Amino acid sequence: MINHTFDEYKRYLEEHLTDLLPDIDHKSITLYDSMKYSIESGGKRIRPVLLLAACEFTGGRLEEALPYACAVEYIHTYTLIHDDLPCMDDDELRRGIPTNHKVYGEAVATLAGDGLQSAAFEVMNQDMLLYFDDPEALKKRVKAAYEISKGSGCRGVVAGQIADMEAENKSTSAELLDFIHLHKTAALIIASIRAGARLGDPDPEMLTNLTVYGENLGLAFQIADDILDVVGDENEMGKKTGADKANEKTTYPSVYGLEESQRRLQEATDKALEALAPYYDNAELFNQLAVTLAKRGN
Ligand code: IPE
Ligand code: IPE
Ligand code: MG
Ligand code: MG
Ligand code: MG
Repeated sequence: MINHTFDEYKRYLEEHLTDLLPDIDHKSITLYDSMKYSIESGGKRIRPVLLLAACEFTGGRLEEALPYACAVEYIHTYTLIHDDLPCMDDDELRRGIPTNHKVYGEAVATLAGDGLQSAAFEVMNQDMLLYFDDPEALKKRVKAAYEISKGSGCRGVVAGQIADMEAENKSTSAELLDFIHLHKTAALIIASIRAGARLGDPDPEMLTNLTVYGENLGLAFQIADDILDVVGDENEMGKKTGADKANEKTTYPSVYGLEESQRRLQEATDKALEALAPYYDNAELFNQLAVTLAKRGN
């Protein structure tokens, strides 16, 4: 059962997020500083909160999910640092402050992303090493780490990012647009939910329903992000608007127009809510999050 609010999960994560980073030799202090700069710059923390909530939802213990929640936030933050690089989206503002490369330079920012990605796997593996004498507990952790590896890697986020890059300046099919959104964004959201659930004890139907929720929430999330790039407020979002148009990105508004994008955002949100309808009020945090995210784009 979900025992905490979104803000409580977020606070719990943030209390530990920097501490769980691997110890870094003083000679590599610039690397540590640049990793910490982006990790501590805020962010909505949606993915780790989803992981923590999914763990409790499926009967797992919050403390046991912490290393995996930190891991997804390290990975997410690395994808943002790399996404902002001049060779990718070339952005100068992120989470309300200058992007990592604007402060530390491109080479250090690239390495900060590399460092955060490997820190994610280190923190998960370190946790697994503690459970060698408990095969059941170890099995859950291996499964959780597998979800995160798969969702973040070359058939998840990275696959979405290359498709996003290659679709610049091109007319793109609706099918490819959904491939981009489901990979660059939904994959890590789905992975966070499934990894959290793996740490609990979900029945197969619950795991399927959570996955359908994650897919639709992830799609809705990126549609809203696309819409906000057109109509959003820079200060509120902490990143520049109009960037997709400047980069000639293929987005929901560029393919469908604003109004139809908003309709599709609502449709994906409704599907996410429908997937968790069997759990009534027990899924309140998940439902509330879907509704709040949809409102951002409307
Ligand atoms: C930004 O993600 C990148 C997208 C997938 C759209 P978030 O909107 O979750 O960014 P933060 O973590 O809150 O800064
Ligand atoms: C980002 O998509 C997806 C990842 C970082 C993997 P966007 O490029 O639309 O995200 P923003 O708008 O820069 O946050
Ligand atoms: Mg991008
Ligand atoms: Mg971007
Ligand atoms: Mg965007």
